[in-house]
Formats: sequence, structure tokens, C-alpha cells
Amino acid sequence: MRKEEMQLLTSALKYEQGHRRRTQHILKVYAMAGLLGRARNIDEKDQYLLNRRAVVHDIAIKYCKENCEDASAENQKKYCGMLTEKFLLEAGYDSECLPPVKYMVYHHHDYHIEKDILLQLLVEADIIVNCLEEGCEGKDLDCISGIFVSQAGKELFDSIIKKEGR
Ligand SMILES: [Fe+2]
Repeated sequence: MRKEEMQLLTSALKYEQGHRRRTQHILKVYAMAGLLGRARNIDEKDQYLLNRRAVVHDIAIKYCKENCEDASAENQKKYCGMLTEKFLLEAGYDSECLPPVKYMVYHHHDYHIEKDILLQLLVEADIIVNCLEEGCEGKDLDCISGIFVSQAGKELFDSIIKKEGR
């Protein structure tokens, strides 16, 4: 793990101040994005980019809960850019790496826009983890399954989520 990534992950975990679900969610999406990126054979540079996006993808939730009425996707979009910038710069990343990370954090719930492969892999990692955390009751699994593009993501979704509880 690179120094900046270690610093970013540490500060994102500390920021949650022991909130169990969000702290574990960061770790799970970080690990799942790492797995999907490696399964897809993306290069190291892209893997590091995906990793840092995975760490901060939900960074606005706590801020919105403390400063807005709720942490709706709309509110998160208002503040995720500012928070992403703050966390990345404090972790030692260059300012030139900010735009693609901010873009991905902003759009990670926009399932039906055209996506580059890194945003796609983050969306897939987040969906798998969310389904594991929340369960699948009432969810249209075939519809969710249709969001997946990567082979590894599809296989994991089918094996872990569709067969949950069998
Ligand atoms: Fe998430």
C-alpha cells in the first residue's frame, strides 16, 4: 500500500469515530474494489485511483448527517467534492488527481449513466457490499444484476447475493 493511500484510509476510518457500519463499509468496499480491479487486470495506476475513490466514496454521509437534514444522495452530492478534496490533499495527494476522484464520488449512485470502467467497478463493489449489509428483501435482484458489466462482479453478485441464505 502506498503512503498516501495508507494515510487516506487511516484518516477516513478515524473520521467515522467508531461508527461501526460506516467504518466497516469503507473497509469492505475498499477490499471489494481491489478484488474487482485485479480481476479485471487494470494497471497499477488505475488500481490506485480506484482504491482512493473507494475509500472516500461515502465521505459525505457523516458530514450531511451532522450539518443537513439528512444524508440523501442530493445532499451528499453538494458536499462530497469539498470533503474529497480535503481528505486527499491532507493525505498527500497532488491537486491534479482531484478531478477524477471527485467525479467518481459524485456519480457512484448514478447507475444508469455511461461510466468508465473504474467508476463501473466502484459501483459494482458498492452494490455487492450494500446488498450484503442490507439484505436482499424486496430488491429486484435481476434488475440490479443488469447493472453489472465486469465478469468478476457478475459472478460474485450471482454467487454471494443471489444465493444468499441458501
Ligand atoms: Fe457505499
